[in-house]
Amino acid sequence: MKPNFSPLPLLFLLLPSTPSFAQSPAAAPAPPRPNNVTAILEKASQFTTFIHLLQTTKVAGQINTQLINSNQGLTIFAPTDNAFSSLKPGTLNSFTDEQKVELVQFHVVPSFFSPSQFQTVSNPLRTQAGGSEGAFPLNVTANGNQVNITTGVTNATLASSVYSDSQLAVYQVDQVLLPLSFFQSPPPAPAPEKSKKSTVSPDYSSGSGDGSPTDSSGEISLSKNQFFAFSSIVLVLSCTFLNENESVLHSF
Ligand SMILES: *[C@@H]1O[C@H](CO)[C@@H](O)[C@H](O)[C@H]1NC(C)=O
Ligand SMILES: *[C@@H]1O[C@H](CO)[C@@H](O)[C@H](O)[C@H]1NC(C)=O
Ligand SMILES: *[C@@H]1O[C@H](CO)[C@@H](O)[C@H](O)[C@H]1NC(C)=O
Ligand SMILES: *[C@@H]1O[C@H](CO)[C@@H](O)[C@H](O)[C@H]1NC(C)=O
Ligand SMILES: *[C@@H]1O[C@H](CO)[C@@H](O)[C@H](O)[C@H]1NC(C)=O
Repeated sequence: MKPNFSPLPLLFLLLPSTPSFAQSPAAAPAPPRPNNVTAILEKASQFTTFIHLLQTTKVAGQINTQLINSNQGLTIFAPTDNAFSSLKPGTLNSFTDEQKVELVQFHVVPSFFSPSQFQTVSNPLRTQAGGSEGAFPLNVTANGNQVNITTGVTNATLASSVYSDSQLAVYQVDQVLLPLSFFQSPPPAPAPEKSKKSTVSPDYSSGSGDGSPTDSSGEISLSKNQFFAFSSIVLVLSCTFLNENESVLHSF
């Protein structure tokens, strides 16, 4: 009796246990990954301006998507509300919508950095702004616990860690990081025809202050005056006879 009963309960125990064991690894990767940067920043109640910018520029969504897809992780430098209010008045408003996107992306580095990894970082560090071209770099220097960031325009210090897991690091910074390229080159986007005209006329006026172009333009301007004096007479004469501009041009 006893030897007959014992193997049966064992079988019943084994049968249901195998499927339940097979299910548990499938459920294991489920533990929620913190993939909402605004939610993380909201917990520390001093990033309202940065959160607002993250949302209006839609960079928050990009970051959240990247957190799901990226293998490298992300590092975010979050400027405090104090940092934004210490900007020169009107600074943010002077930026175009495109620049605001770039500004926010400039605070995101497309790889994970722990505080100790900043000690060995190789500068310049590419940011999320400007795509893969690396046109918006920043430099990080670290010495012990002190980590500085310089953009060429802004010098900032890492104040503290707001959040860190193996994939996302969020640090509080005491300054809004302004990209050097915002102040270096004129915005290339707006109306190329107009900008050509506006750059040509300053070139003439500034040319008088320069070295070599001044001498030649001075000589040319003398002969130009003579030419204009002569040609204006021709113009007046020809205009009295010819009313159409095209025929005036042809007469030269
Ligand atoms: C992220 O968190 C913010 C604030 O808690 C919330 O408004 C937003 O809907 C969240 N986004 C997603 C995609 O969960
Ligand atoms: C960081 O900047 C401060 C000045 O703001 C300076 O005293 C310090 O030496 C810098 N530290 C590093 C590691 O560059
Ligand atoms: C950043 O570091 C690179 C490499 O050391 C250097 O060439 C560059 O001038 C630095 N830029 C700034 C703004 O400090
Ligand atoms: C940033 O730091 C560098 C080197 O310490 C210094 O030359 C520069 O003037 C500083 N810039 C600003 C805006 O404080
Ligand atoms: C001639 O020039 C005048 C003024 O510059 C302009 O209004 C007119 O259209 C021109 N005529 C032709 C035929 O190009």
